[in-house]
Amino acid sequence: MRTQVAIIGGGPSGLLLSQLLHRKGIDTIVLERKTRKYVLGRIRAGILEVGFVNLMREAGVSKRMDAESFDHDGAVIAYGNSQFGINFKQHTGSHVVVYGQTEVTRDLYDAREAMDGKVVFNVQDVAINDANNNAPNVTYRVAGNSQRIDCDFIVGCDGFHGVSRQTIPAEVRRDYEKAYPFGWLGVLSETPPVHEELIYSSSDRGFALCSMRNANLSRYYVQCSLADSPEDWSDHRFWEELKRRVPESVADGLVTGPSIEKSIAPLRSFVTEPMRWGSLFLCGDAAHIVPPTGAKGLNTAASDIHYLYQGLAQYYRDRDSRGLDQYSEKALARIWKAERFSWWMTNLLHRFPDQSEFDLKMQRADLEFLRENEAAQTVMAQNYVGLPY
Ligand code: APR
Ligand code: PHB
Repeated sequence: MRTQVAIIGGGPSGLLLSQLLHRKGIDTIVLERKTRKYVLGRIRAGILEVGFVNLMREAGVSKRMDAESFDHDGAVIAYGNSQFGINFKQHTGSHVVVYGQTEVTRDLYDAREAMDGKVVFNVQDVAINDANNNAPNVTYRVAGNSQRIDCDFIVGCDGFHGVSRQTIPAEVRRDYEKAYPFGWLGVLSETPPVHEELIYSSSDRGFALCSMRNANLSRYYVQCSLADSPEDWSDHRFWEELKRRVPESVADGLVTGPSIEKSIAPLRSFVTEPMRWGSLFLCGDAAHIVPPTGAKGLNTAASDIHYLYQGLAQYYRDRDSRGLDQYSEKALARIWKAERFSWWMTNLLHRFPDQSEFDLKMQRADLEFLRENEAAQTVMAQNYVGLPY
């Protein structure tokens, strides 16, 4: 079979790009190795930059998001028993949107189905062939049958553990990585959020985050050891630890309840360069990973999608490849700034096992400077709401 753009990976990146291209009359096929149900079973973060929201609107997939999401004009930073707000609206004129990224993926699947978009589930042994010559193609197996897709371009939206990044030869590719010596234990509970905005809290016992999905669904995290497993954390242990890591006024207002989801995720910073090799383009987690502290995972995928969508649309409209030729450089320029912000927030708020007393003093000085200095708050707000595309 043949298509114009073969997309590997049916997560939010691949689905959104497929939807945007379809609306421009550009033919795509999405290959997903799992089932739709499995993909939608992944619990993901809940903060969207306005740039991502605008892409969803351009893709015609924003009706439920516009009805159910809500804007956050700021967030709270807490340390010890102190807390202060960062007013994004005041510093940037912008805000972030609270809407579960799992719901984003659900809406994108529904939109693909409504447009008869081609999404093939349960694919196996996906291989990218001849990406660096004039006959790119993707081979795979599904239901025991071998298939081949001949195409103009291949987009790797297959996440950190996918096949596309590995297709770029090691001598061409440069990987940059930093692994953090702790993880995040996350709990979803059908309880009202403890605060109307997110609370990022740094304590002597470690980091904690109070987030939400809606008025009756809260998402909480505590920094934990990489040796931990969710089974090590009863609900009682989790709630008691969370209360010890947030200011007393926050702990006193916390409504606890049974966890409906509990999982541990490691923290990693990762970038691969370049994000293009011949007819193969990398997008989203296939090319870069951020620690979740800055809520930048999907929001960095968004700018990749924006640049690639514009480049592909320009190519098929005008046979002009300048947008595609500039993709990797433009995408990486914004990605590295998001990597820096996520790395900075992670270092600001977490406890590291090898921290000296001096290191702790530096961390506290950083927090107090952020609390007192308008310019520091403007810089944080600009990064948190999202740097321009
Ligand atoms: N063949 C086909 N599909 C594959 C393969 C493969 N070889 N390898 C992985 N996949 C699929 C996975 O099953 C997954 O559904 O690719 C998809 C990749 O999706 P994500 O990992 O969610 O990556 P992406 O779409 O880039 O999402 C980026 O979204 O919610 C946020 O924080 C999340 O940072 C992440 C961001
Ligand atoms: C979440 O709601 O899951 C969330 C919010 C903000 C973050 C990370 C995760 O920085």
